[in-house]
Amino acid sequence: MSSFNSFLIVFLICITIGCATTNAASFNAEYQLSLVNKVRAQNGKSPLVLSPCLLLSAQAQSNYQLSIITMTHNSPYGSLFDRMIKFGCQLMTSVAENVAMGQQTDDTVMNAWVASPGHFANIIGNYKYFGAGMAQSSSNGAPFWTQQFANYQTCVPTSSSSSSSTTVKPTTSSVSSANSGTSSTSLSTSSNPTSGTSSTSSSSGSTSGTPTGPNLSNTTLHVSLVNTFRVANNKPVFILCPCLVQAALAHSQYQASINTATNSDPEGSVANRIRARGCPNVSTATQNIGCGFNTDASAVQGFTTTSTKNNLLGNYQYFGSAMVKSPQGYPYWTQIVMNGECS
Ligand SMILES: *[C@@H]1O[C@H](CO)[C@@H](O)[C@H](O)[C@H]1NC(C)=O
Ligand SMILES: *[C@@H]1O[C@H](CO)[C@@H](O)[C@H](O)[C@H]1NC(C)=O
Ligand SMILES: *[C@@H]1O[C@H](CO)[C@@H](O)[C@H](O)[C@H]1NC(C)=O
Repeated sequence: MSSFNSFLIVFLICITIGCATTNAASFNAEYQLSLVNKVRAQNGKSPLVLSPCLLLSAQAQSNYQLSIITMTHNSPYGSLFDRMIKFGCQLMTSVAENVAMGQQTDDTVMNAWVASPGHFANIIGNYKYFGAGMAQSSSNGAPFWTQQFANYQTCVPTSSSSSSSTTVKPTTSSVSSANSGTSSTSLSTSSNPTSGTSSTSSSSGSTSGTPTGPNLSNTTLHVSLVNTFRVANNKPVFILCPCLVQAALAHSQYQASINTATNSDPEGSVANRIRARGCPNVSTATQNIGCGFNTDASAVQGFTTTSTKNNLLGNYQYFGSAMVKSPQGYPYWTQIVMNGECS
């Protein structure tokens, strides 16, 4: 392990692109290596060699990203060195990793990385070995990509059946991103007057904002799934509020119109958007956005397994949600939570 001290470069940056994918991604590690080596040759660098250990390690990182539906360099296996060791690399001296989310082919993900200075530096770095991985849900959500680069002395690949696939949730459905809401609050930041009582959510389901037809969100189902999550975490249930459903619908329409997941909105803050829909007394409000989920169940699964869950477990009383598909057929979700008065 003393060799770790000799030369260590870990360059970890992430990129992400828009959320507009519905197809099965195409991935071929050997083809990706040929693209890498073409770029290296253009920059006077020697070709990399495909590493059985890095193939396993990179695939495990893509599997892990998919399992938490988040692009990340973190891993339950530890540092990048630890991860490579786990899959059989020995006596490493320098390592690097690129990750990405959303691209559909080896060519497009490589184009994105090459256009990004940090990733490009890894691609043309002084490494000898290369591995790549990609993981995508069975319902063709956003693909999660990983490239790994290393110098090491030996590779004794560990059995792939043991660990590389253990973190996959095979039934996790399509997810591209579920970014946590940032635009929040309005007048006062008074915490929570009295959190919602235990009235059941399903009773107020027929709100006017529920999208129908091809926009297949069922708001009643959505809030009941969210409330199941709250109850499991000892929080009082949310009350469905038509103003919030309408505001969520408008924000999903905006996202769909630009085919981009975003928290910003031409109408301004979340509170302003709620007020404009008939609930003037907003105390605090915030939103979650997501895209790529095809059902309420998968959307709630996504929202409850990333940082957006913090809003869903927050001390709010009221809830509204909606989904609208872009002209390209891609679903954009909005959840809004509020304290105040629902009129
Ligand atoms: C979804 O709803 C929006 C707004 O109500 C509409 O413009 C859009 O065409 C709908 N999407 C589909 C696929 O019908
Ligand atoms: C919406 O979900 C609720 C709760 O699961 C269900 O009772 C209702 O039938 C659903 N509505 C539609 C139109 O599917
Ligand atoms: C808003 O709050 C004010 C002051 O508490 C109250 O008079 C008014 O009725 C409320 N409006 C709505 C729509 O709830």
